Amino acid sequence: MSTEADPIQPGTVQDPIASPVASATATAQAAAAGGDAIVSAVDLTLYFGARAVLSNINTDVRRGAVTALIGPTGSGKTTLLRTFNRMNDKVTGYRHTGDVLLDGHSIWHHGVELMALRRKVGMLFQRPNPFPMSIIENVTAGARAHRMASRSGLRDVAEQQLTAVGLWAAVKDRLKDSPFRLSGGQQQLLCLARALAINPEVLLLDEPTSALDPGATESIEALIRTLVPNLTVVIVTHNLAQASRVSDRTIFLNQGRLVEHNETKQLFEHPVEEETANYVRGRFG
Ligand SMILES: Nc1ncnc2c1ncn2[C@@H]1O[C@H](COP(=O)(O)OP(=O)(O)OP(=O)(O)O)[C@@H](O)[C@H]1O
Ligand SMILES: [Mg+2]
Repeated sequence: MSTEADPIQPGTVQDPIASPVASATATAQAAAAGGDAIVSAVDLTLYFGARAVLSNINTDVRRGAVTALIGPTGSGKTTLLRTFNRMNDKVTGYRHTGDVLLDGHSIWHHGVELMALRRKVGMLFQRPNPFPMSIIENVTAGARAHRMASRSGLRDVAEQQLTAVGLWAAVKDRLKDSPFRLSGGQQQLLCLARALAINPEVLLLDEPTSALDPGATESIEALIRTLVPNLTVVIVTHNLAQASRVSDRTIFLNQGRLVEHNETKQLFEHPVEEETANYVRGRFG
């Protein structure tokens, strides 16, 4: 979560995300995709230094669906995911051309406040990153920052979210302990509870189960399915079986290009591009 804010004129009361910068391109794209786009990349090219890491990405993330992002290592999955809530903005050498729209409005519009954006678009990183505070304070950190619950309501928020991720029984008697004594997998579940506690509209998950055992992985996958369609989920995974179990749609990236985006079943069983076929059949990557 960021405390940093883009400058907004004093006295401005508009919802920055809802500011009127409507894009005809996005509307046309959503219509073409035959669904309701919540996030759209429009001619997005992204550089770190001189090197383009993402090249001319045009795609829509469907509202209320789980979209899997797959592709070989270094293909740009994490970079694309991090772009959706502007996590790359401060990376040395980063620049982009094109745009990313949330509900049809640019996430880089000068009126967009970063904290408001990240409340709508939450993220779980590949490596758990608990804050240096107690377990309960971790879960309620976002809810407190956004003043989403009263002091007494915060414990309920914590219990509800820790229960949802299957961690409540393990931590209910040690809520004031440090999270760093939890196992790696438990720390990841805690970070997921923290991300869910701010009630985001979009949840970005970067290989969220790579540190979890099969049981915890299964519960996270089941949990993800319960989150939609109220929430939109984008999940990066190297586990193709996981992508086909958990997602409705799949995007295949290779070397920074979007090769194919389709319904998951279609993409795995009847890929249009030979590159996709080779990847999903395990011939490279
Ligand atoms: N901060 C950065 N500075 C410079 N280059 C970067 C940075 N972050 C990522 N890259 C480069 O961008 C490319 C895409 O990286 P990215 O992490 O998005 O790949 P990925 O598909 O998530 O890979 P993996 O499956 O290994 O996690 C890689 O070549 C990587 O070296
Ligand atoms: Mg990655």
